[in-house]
This record gives sequence, structure tokens and C-alpha cells, in this order.
Amino acid sequence: MDLETAIRERRAVRHYTDEPVSDGVLRQLIDAATLAPSAMNEQPWLFTVVRDKELLKRVSRDGKAATLAIMIANGAPSERVEKMKNPAYDILYNAPALIVIASASSGPWAAVNCSLAAQNLMLAARAAGLGTCWIGQAQAWLASADGKAALGLPPDCTPVAAIIVGHTAEFPPPVPRKPAEVKWIG
Ligand SMILES: Cc1cc2nc3c(=O)[nH]c(=O)nc-3n(C[C@H](O)[C@H](O)[C@H](O)COP(=O)(O)O)c2cc1C
Repeated sequence: MDLETAIRERRAVRHYTDEPVSDGVLRQLIDAATLAPSAMNEQPWLFTVVRDKELLKRVSRDGKAATLAIMIANGAPSERVEKMKNPAYDILYNAPALIVIASASSGPWAAVNCSLAAQNLMLAARAAGLGTCWIGQAQAWLASADGKAALGLPPDCTPVAAIIVGHTAEFPPPVPRKPAEVKWIG
């Protein structure tokens, strides 16, 4: 698949089959992620691949609880709170794999560097016929001391992107985009 097609056909995928994703394919995606640019070529990213079902369940359960608490504290709309409270709602959508991209350094470019790696990873997955979805709802817990300990991450790292990966029966239709606001100068 060419780059233009991968960009246009990448979707946030929320339905996965049970088919596992092999080590080789995951390594290929991580390899593409490491080709992203980074400030001063620091390449600060640490990749953690979770396929262990018990740990996936824990990330889903504890990630959901942490995000729900934040939503309630911030007065999130009741329909969003109710959706999160539904015990059937799995924030990881039963995906067979989760890749957490964390920054080993906490400098000003930590989030940018890891986000660029994340986008490469998601496009490479699309080109390989796989679905992905960035799960911001797992972020707060993954960044906590408990979350880092559960994933064996160094206490001083900064988790930036939690991306589920898996085989999808079909890619969902495109979500509409707003027209770009462009200011032309010259
Ligand atoms: C930083 C970030 C956090 C996101 N968090 C979630 C999430 O927690 N759950 C979810 O279902 N989708 C999440 N998404 C996916 C977006 O909802 C999705 O990318 C957006 O609706 C556009 O759809 P598309 O990716 O199919 O073009 C997240 C995307 C980004 C970039």
C-alpha cells in the first residue's frame, strides 16, 4: 500500500477479531515508529508490547476507573460518564495487543517525539492491513506509579501513546474532517 492510501484509509478501529498479532508484525510496526523524526535525534521512545490477557484486562479496568474519576471531577457530560460506567464498555475494545510508547526523557519534546512515532506506527499498521486506535482513556492510569509498575516501565519515564493493534474484520467509514483553516501569506 502506498503512503497516500495508508494516510487516507487509516481509521480508529474499535472492533477486532481474536486473531493474535505476531512478534514479526509488531516488530515491523515498531521499526517504522523508530524512523520518525525526533528533536536532536534523541529517539527517546520506549515501546512496551502487551499481549498478556490478564494485563490487558487490568489496563482496561484500572485505566477506565482512573479516567472515569477525572471525568466526574471535571464535570464531564452525563452521557459520557454513563458510557464509561457501563461494565460492558472495554476501553481497549478487546484488542489482542497494546503498544505503549513512553518517553525515557521528560524534556519539552517528549510528547511530540512519541506522537510522531505513534503516527508512523499507525500508518505502518494500516499498510499491513491492521487496525489501530490511540486510547487516551488509558493514559492517566498508565502515567501513574501503579500503571508504570504494572508495565515494568521506569518510574521517571513519561507514557505518551497507548495504541491498540489488531486484525479487523473491516475498516470503519471515514469520520468527516473540517475544512483546513489556511492562512496564505504571500
Ligand atoms: C490523542 C488521542 C486520544 C484518543 N483517545 C481515544 C480513546 O480513548 N478511545 C477511542 O475510542 N478513540 C480515541 N481516539 C481516536 C479518535 O477518536 C479518532 O482518531 C478520531 O475520532 C478520528 O477518527 P479516525 O482516526 O478514524 O480518523 C484518540 C485519538 C487521539 C489522537
